[in-house]
Amino acid sequence: MLVLGFLGSPRLTGICSKLLQKTLDGARSRGAEIKRYDLINCNIKFCRGCCTCFVNDPELPIGKCPLNDDMQTILEEYTRADGYVFASPVYDMFVSALMKRFLERKIMLTYRPKEDYGRIPGPRTPGHFTKKASLIVTGNASDEYETAMGEPCFDAWQAHLPIEQVDTVDQLYVGGVETISSEALSQKLTRAFHNGVHLVEEITKGYKADGPGEQQQMQVL
Ligand SMILES: Cc1cc2nc3c(=O)[nH]c(=O)nc-3n(C[C@H](O)[C@H](O)[C@H](O)COP(=O)(O)O)c2cc1C
Repeated sequence: MLVLGFLGSPRLTGICSKLLQKTLDGARSRGAEIKRYDLINCNIKFCRGCCTCFVNDPELPIGKCPLNDDMQTILEEYTRADGYVFASPVYDMFVSALMKRFLERKIMLTYRPKEDYGRIPGPRTPGHFTKKASLIVTGNASDEYETAMGEPCFDAWQAHLPIEQVDTVDQLYVGGVETISSEALSQKLTRAFHNGVHLVEEITKGYKADGPGEQQQMQVL
């Protein structure tokens, strides 16, 4: 089982990075192979909006993007993975530009057949898909501002994940980062570790129900 982590903070020793690592450690403690991408160190160019990646032969999307950088390798690994941990600081009430640039470059994975164009994924019961994701957002605004600060970030990932046939199992918002006490931070890190354990448990449950690689059909409205 492969779990990939993606860090949208440019600060590799920051709180977002620590939370991501704890979640990956939790996944590893339950037997997952983990790999972490610090997006600040990846060569990822900005999407040029040519749409080549999903207009030409959308059934084989990877490798069609004309930009030459790390994205092809990352996407090949991404499609092989069983679970994902996405972590971003809130920047101006949204995910960081680093994270957004990465999301835009994997737009081809949200390709859907023509008959589903113009419709959004319908309500799904948890456990519908076998691939799973865990989300982490950090912000200076305290935990009580999770709706204002965290939700737009969670929504950014949710714009892709259901269409990629990935269920989200946990969303962790950690606020007040500039003034967080060591005790509160330690509690959040413990929760991040448990989220990693939970991620593996949910992936395993999905495989028991469906068998690896057998993704179920997405429902659309
Ligand atoms: C450009 C910028 C914009 C920010 N915007 C917000 C914001 O809108 N809301 C918020 O709560 N914190 C905001 N912050 C604070 C960051 O979210 C905080 O520094 C970050 O979560 C710390 O994580 P790190 O240690 O991994 O860098 C901003 C910080 C920067 C640098």
